[in-house]
Amino acid sequence: MKVNVHRPRASRSVVTALSALLLGLVATLITIGSAHAAAGCKITYSTNDWGGGFTANLGITNLGDPVTSWTLEWDFAGNQQVGQGWSGTFTQSSKHVTVKSLSYNGGLATNASTSLGFNGSYSGTNTAPTTFKLNGTTCDGTAGPTPTPTPTPTDPGGDGSHAGNPFAGGKGYVNPEWSAEARGDGGTAVANQPTAVWLDRIAAINGVNGGMGLRAHLDAALSQGAGYAQFVIYDLPGRDCAALASNGELGATDIGRYQSEYIDPIASIMADSKYANLKIVTYIEPDSLPNLVTNVSGNTAIAACQTMQQNGNYIKGVQYALNKLHAISNVYTYLDAAHHGWLGWDSNLGPAAQLFATMAQGTTAGVNSVDGFVVNTANYSPTTEPYLPVNDQTRQSKWVDWNYYVDESSFGAAFRQKLIFDGFPSGIGMVIDTSRNGWGGSSRPTGPSTASDINTQVNAERVDRRPHVGDWCNQSGAGLGARPTAAPASGFDAYAWVKPPGESDGASSAIPNDEGKGFDRMCDPTYGGNVLNGNNPSGALANAPLSGHWFSAQFHQLLQNAYPAVS
Ligand code: GLC
Repeated sequence: MKVNVHRPRASRSVVTALSALLLGLVATLITIGSAHAAAGCKITYSTNDWGGGFTANLGITNLGDPVTSWTLEWDFAGNQQVGQGWSGTFTQSSKHVTVKSLSYNGGLATNASTSLGFNGSYSGTNTAPTTFKLNGTTCDGTAGPTPTPTPTPTDPGGDGSHAGNPFAGGKGYVNPEWSAEARGDGGTAVANQPTAVWLDRIAAINGVNGGMGLRAHLDAALSQGAGYAQFVIYDLPGRDCAALASNGELGATDIGRYQSEYIDPIASIMADSKYANLKIVTYIEPDSLPNLVTNVSGNTAIAACQTMQQNGNYIKGVQYALNKLHAISNVYTYLDAAHHGWLGWDSNLGPAAQLFATMAQGTTAGVNSVDGFVVNTANYSPTTEPYLPVNDQTRQSKWVDWNYYVDESSFGAAFRQKLIFDGFPSGIGMVIDTSRNGWGGSSRPTGPSTASDINTQVNAERVDRRPHVGDWCNQSGAGLGARPTAAPASGFDAYAWVKPPGESDGASSAIPNDEGKGFDRMCDPTYGGNVLNGNNPSGALANAPLSGHWFSAQFHQLLQNAYPAVS
């Protein structure tokens, strides 16, 4: 791991075509809000004109109650004619235009935004429309009357889901093996932090090369008096289909081995009654389902991911893991939901939520088999971008590239609402992996920029110093992020260190090994990139060992650039 992909525009035709197919199926389920719902909206409309033609970009922000679908209407002032549109179904009658949402972008929580657009033609002047209506309400930028809030239960209880937040009320298990590496390499100040244990191969269950296995870790957690211990479930067939650095031991068709040699023994150890009072947090299969969202069609299609979509083994594997792990009452399941620079674009966010929901509905306990979602696993996206606003100007910068999210707090909160909207329990909690997203040190911006060029401004304001948000391997300049924290914000169960800081993301040149790991050029500092990172430099540090192996130079830099600083 860890691959990051976006396709803000290239994907539209495919997503739109799929959505159009789905639209007929879901149309009867859609309702347009209740009579008493508060309504309110804000619309942005901008065009690029050329002789007789134009491209219009629209942004919708829902300021009222959540909606499950929307209809946007306006009247043209001149003789404009809508041609091909995207992210909506467009019809025009004389000067009146009606756009209906598609299945994947109809759901808009309060304050959520989505974008759409079309190519059109005109003669004379291309005057922008002045009045827009969303679901019949004129969009004047205000929120309308405040409705009586319906209390949302924080603990769904009684439906098979777990009560509460496993991170709250107890200390996290400190992995003695990671702790010794950190302490031995100048990291005494952070060596007592809880980090996740990666069960990254079948042999890890019993311990690799005399190291600790799952039982040894759970026993150590008991003797530490820990409240919770964290494990990453990471051995799917055809693992890491969009990259090479963390390809695993199981081939694309090895689902039987995944079930019987990997998940079954893990579940049987975790179910031991000896551990019943320990909360066991599992992070399930980083990157797998996000790869099925973005890397199976269009210009970001990757053959290995198409294989995993066609044979269904990512879905089957994750469902099997959920069935086994959720059945153990003290085991908590968090699915990997990538990060804002991967699923943040609304053409990815909606389809991702639907894929998660459909997958979970196919498990024994349905959506209740999922306790929450982890974002930014092993990635470098900041928890917050304090100086970079998301607005109509910054969204046009190369860095933001039309995303509505520039950090994990906003992405995580929005994705959570979308997941609940698509059927997940209202008690699901988000976790942000903050192990390496600190971006402190002397290069950290200290305030907003007044530069007139939008790219200059955004580049001066962002704390995320990567060449591109799709860069994921051993990022130069990164620092440790927030120390692990329980319940840091509403809807968030924890900031956690899922990727143990100091462990490499991948080798910077080919290294022969028996772990199934390949050489991914995104880990090579001399690489100029590809479509997945906008052909930017990889941003990777030189001289990196294989993924998972200790990378001392990186660890030192993480300490150096920690934010908050390590004292
Ligand atoms: C990477 C490696 C894996 C390791 C993990 C945590 O994903 O492939 O072997 O356990 O990172 O460092």
